[in-house]
Amino acid sequence: MSQRVCIAIDGPAGAGKSTVAKLVAHRLGLLYIDTGAMYRAVTLKALRRGVDLNDAAALTELARATNIQLIPGVRQTVLLDGEDVTEAIRSPEVTRCVSVVAGVAGVREILVDRQRQMAGETDVIMDGRDIGTVVLPHATAKFFLTASAEERARRRAKEMAEKGYTVDITGLIKEIQERDYRDSHRKVSPLVPAADAVILDSSGMTVDEVVNRIISWLEKNQ
Ligand code: CDP
Ligand code: CDP
Repeated sequence: MSQRVCIAIDGPAGAGKSTVAKLVAHRLGLLYIDTGAMYRAVTLKALRRGVDLNDAAALTELARATNIQLIPGVRQTVLLDGEDVTEAIRSPEVTRCVSVVAGVAGVREILVDRQRQMAGETDVIMDGRDIGTVVLPHATAKFFLTASAEERARRRAKEMAEKGYTVDITGLIKEIQERDYRDSHRKVSPLVPAADAVILDSSGMTVDEVVNRIISWLEKNQ
């Protein structure tokens, strides 16, 4: 049996998973793996090639023929077939379409296999939607990070305003709610907390407070 440390962080869009997971990874010396970036990379490739997003077989073939590398660093770099797509996978168009591609069972099977392989090679903290339920059901610890849709939209709006975008907060709340709905209601691996996950509602908490809460939980319970 593997003795590797693997920590799962799941939750809805904008809950703070990647921000918190990166900091916990740094404090505990773990490799951070952003599984959302993998679904985004396949979506970007599908959009560029004009693949019909309703064609599950074509999307599955595309995922199989795609090489995705997550290069660790302060700003994790994402390589799609060797090209740096770190920024491109965060475009509004990819964000709008990603949950459709992620609903395809064949795409998930391929990416989940790769994620398990990565977790088998080193100690990791992995964030996504199905890490505690499907990818790493025997994870060392599982956290389900959440916050109200309004707070998550405010966080995203702040981030976007800092990058110079004008933001319509009502539209952002609606978009987040729609993606949450699709992620939680799909047939394969829907977004639900694992039965043994620690639920952490971060509404009103700072990033540091969430990180400290996770680290003290791990110190007390491991
Ligand atoms: O960062 P943000 O919350 O916007 O999303 P993300 O983590 O980059 O994930 C983008 C999308 O990929 C999600 O809305 C899900 O549809 C899908 N996803 C998934 O289905 N399973 C995962 N393990 C990770 C992401
Ligand atoms: O990965 P996920 O989509 O769950 O969220 P994120 O991209 O890590 O976080 C969204 C934004 O919320 C970032 O700008 C964070 O700095 C901010 N934030 C947070 O993550 N946690 C808090 N408790 C407060 C703010």
